[in-house]
Amino acid sequence: MAPDKELNMYNDNPTINNLNTKIVDETRQGEALELESKPVAGGKHFYIESYGCAMNFSDSEIVASILAKEGYSSTREFKEADLILINTCSIREKAEQMVRLRLRQFDKAKEKRPGALVGVLGCMAERLKAKFLEEEKLVDMVVGPDAYRDLPKLIAEAEDGGKGVNVFLSREETYADISPVRLGSNGVNAFISITRGCDNMCSFCVVPFTRGRERSREPFSIVAEAQDLVNRGFREVTLLGQNVDSYKWENPETGEKKSFAGLLEMVAQVDPRLRVRFSTSHPKDLNDDVLYAIQKYHNICNYIHLPVQSGNSRILKLMNRTYDREWYTERIDKIYEVIPDCTISSDIITGFCTETEEEHKDTLSIIEYSNYIMSYMFKYSERPGTVAERKYEDDIPEEVKSRRLTEIVDLQNKLSLQSNQLDVGKTFEVLIEGDSKKSTEDFKGRTSQNKMCIFPKQVGLEPGNYVMVKVKSVNSATLFSEIVEVCKDLNA
Ligand code: 5AD
Ligand code: SF4
Repeated sequence: MAPDKELNMYNDNPTINNLNTKIVDETRQGEALELESKPVAGGKHFYIESYGCAMNFSDSEIVASILAKEGYSSTREFKEADLILINTCSIREKAEQMVRLRLRQFDKAKEKRPGALVGVLGCMAERLKAKFLEEEKLVDMVVGPDAYRDLPKLIAEAEDGGKGVNVFLSREETYADISPVRLGSNGVNAFISITRGCDNMCSFCVVPFTRGRERSREPFSIVAEAQDLVNRGFREVTLLGQNVDSYKWENPETGEKKSFAGLLEMVAQVDPRLRVRFSTSHPKDLNDDVLYAIQKYHNICNYIHLPVQSGNSRILKLMNRTYDREWYTERIDKIYEVIPDCTISSDIITGFCTETEEEHKDTLSIIEYSNYIMSYMFKYSERPGTVAERKYEDDIPEEVKSRRLTEIVDLQNKLSLQSNQLDVGKTFEVLIEGDSKKSTEDFKGRTSQNKMCIFPKQVGLEPGNYVMVKVKSVNSATLFSEIVEVCKDLNA
């Protein structure tokens, strides 16, 4: 469904999620941990697994940092852990079902390791609160997304036989001062959280309830984190937030204001060798200043994830997206006008309440109009407590949702392939990220436009280096290429 699965922002698939957090390269994590605090010999081990969005993944890195300070080191085997944490997602019902299944497996492991604790973190913890402890007797701790600083206290309470619960949602918490331990890192790409929460209240979405009000992180700590990553050899950061374009910060002393475009420029100026990406953009907030910042800086990538959700104005209104089809297509026109080689991707929901066949066709036509290189496509899943659940009937039969989903997936695959075919013969700057999945003879890396390239290795090159590649052949997910030049100035 999504060609570049590793960058999937919202992931229901456990095997893919495992790639995100569970598979920890212990040597790299050891390095990162050393920067924070040395693991205590014979000390305790934690295991953490993340589901859902990149934000959750990034939060798990903050949790790892907090635990490292408490003397915990990580393990990739939950059966060996003293503390098993699962960072959960509530966005669709399927994601929650997966977590419940996993908790049963953890419980079995606990039988063999008495004293081990299991904690549920993130959105599902927030949504179900203490109810989780009643429903799921298997859980010792329930910790919401703004309560991670409280983990040491909650662990102590659970160790004393109590139940550790903190689901308080903050208006201020941004974890700005916590330097995340990079989990499962390839040493090249890293996430930096810049906002938390969401004020948008899309009618289908549970996030405003689970992650609370939107807050922006103080910009100097963001720049410092980016600089620290460059110093450690990282070459790409993705600035993360539920709605990055509404980033806003005001210096309490000078009154100086910073918008998202301003922040982007600050991060781009950290180092020309550091690529800057961002996600997710909201069509109502993606303004021209952001587009001109992308145009101005070579190292801000020419790629925008701009979820449309639906191509029909009536449905967009029911979804409370606060823009209509015309607004969205104007934004698309402007992106291609200011940054002609920009690529765009999207999130799409199929079968939202009362969606007619004609309205579904509007979604197909906006996908074509926008010429997305990739989309994350979902069947509408009713979530408890949302406006849609309270006001509208989930009246589109499952088989209609499925058929519509298949139609948009097929169209997207066709467009992805067409877009890639147009790249054959072209040359792109690529940041090497590591070995290709299929062969240690090949490297993988992405273009500024976020397309995955595979190309034969060349002696002397390593992940974090930039090369120019020429595209030889393609499929809908990959550009098969060869190196034509090494970017010496960027590899210094
Ligand atoms: N049902 C289906 N998809 C959803 N999303 C959010 N809430 C729901 C839901 N209730 C999708 C949206 C969003 C992405 C992160 O997940 O497309 O952009
Ligand atoms: Fe959910 Fe809408 Fe906020 Fe995205 S912008 S997190 S879809 S409420």
